Amino acid sequence: ALISMRQLLDHAAEYGYGIPAFNVNNLEQMRAIMEAADKTNSPVIVQASAGARKYAGSNFLRHMILASIAEFPHIPVCMHQDHGTSPDICQRSIAMGFSSVMMDGSLMSDGKTPSSYEYNVDVTRRTVEMAHACGVSVEGELGCLGSLETGQAGEEDGVGAEGTLSMDQMLTDPDEAADFVSKTNVDALAIACGTSHGAYKFTRPPTDDILAIDRIKAIHQRIPGTHLVMHGSSSVPQEWLAVINEFGGDMPETYGVPVEQIVEGIKYGVRKINIDTDLRLASTGAIRRFLAENPSEFDPRKYLKKTIEAMSDISAARYEAFGAAGQA
Ligand code: G3H
Ligand code: 13P
Ligand code: NA
Ligand code: ZN
Repeated sequence: ALISMRQLLDHAAEYGYGIPAFNVNNLEQMRAIMEAADKTNSPVIVQASAGARKYAGSNFLRHMILASIAEFPHIPVCMHQDHGTSPDICQRSIAMGFSSVMMDGSLMSDGKTPSSYEYNVDVTRRTVEMAHACGVSVEGELGCLGSLETGQAGEEDGVGAEGTLSMDQMLTDPDEAADFVSKTNVDALAIACGTSHGAYKFTRPPTDDILAIDRIKAIHQRIPGTHLVMHGSSSVPQEWLAVINEFGGDMPETYGVPVEQIVEGIKYGVRKINIDTDLRLASTGAIRRFLAENPSEFDPRKYLKKTIEAMSDISAARYEAFGAAGQA
């Protein structure tokens, strides 16, 4: 069944677990996630980025998600729009039938320039008013994703702030978070704690000076009733990097957010965990390996099936680790 994000996250808070929110762009990702959710009996949040909407088309994404609901009627599914850059964009997704939208007012509508606090409050509050009138949930964001290691926003694939950020911008302030939630009435709040989008988050396994799980605890203490969202939460599996590089790829050394650190965050109010890069890495590694080992194969279903298996294994592992397994 199609369900709002608020219903899913309220349940997650009551029972103390987190839900991975996977980005979807194509049939293989959608099937991988649903098969993993079915196997582990987990609730599902799938989200469409602006890039996904451009690649597949909103109608294709929407019908793929509706097809998943028809095929797996016992699994609750939230259809979420990721990183909306204006109330208008969110309104269009709501009109299309999304059950949840993110209004990312931490950036101006170019999706790159950090905004003022007042701007963020204004666009987020307006989106919440409109969405709630339609029974749709809203995720807001306070703070900018960026590297505490380098001070760079790290928008390698064009998603998120551009250029140099201050420490203040990259760590959400607990008092400001409390004010933001009371002024906007958002259902969930994305916070900044040192993670960033994409594969290149950390040049070394992260320690608490560059991945500030303590900041999540401080925010949760200040607003214990608010569902927190962690963006940039891929773990960047070293085994998939090794497969990619063994079979013709060329990716430099890099590290993501360890699953144990996310599990720690879940103890302190993190309920939605955004993951895109991990499924991309698994998919690319599976294709590279299959084609290298089967050079005469030319049926795309052969290698795409390997991507489904690889992505499904990661999805199932996250459902288990975050405690969502068995909660559908
Ligand atoms: O928001 C970040 C996600 O990884 C989406 O990236 O816009 O390339 O689909 P994308
Ligand atoms: P990753 O790039 O770490 O997978 O993060 C995805 C994300 O935050 C989408 O909004
Ligand atoms: Na989102
Ligand atoms: Zn994000």
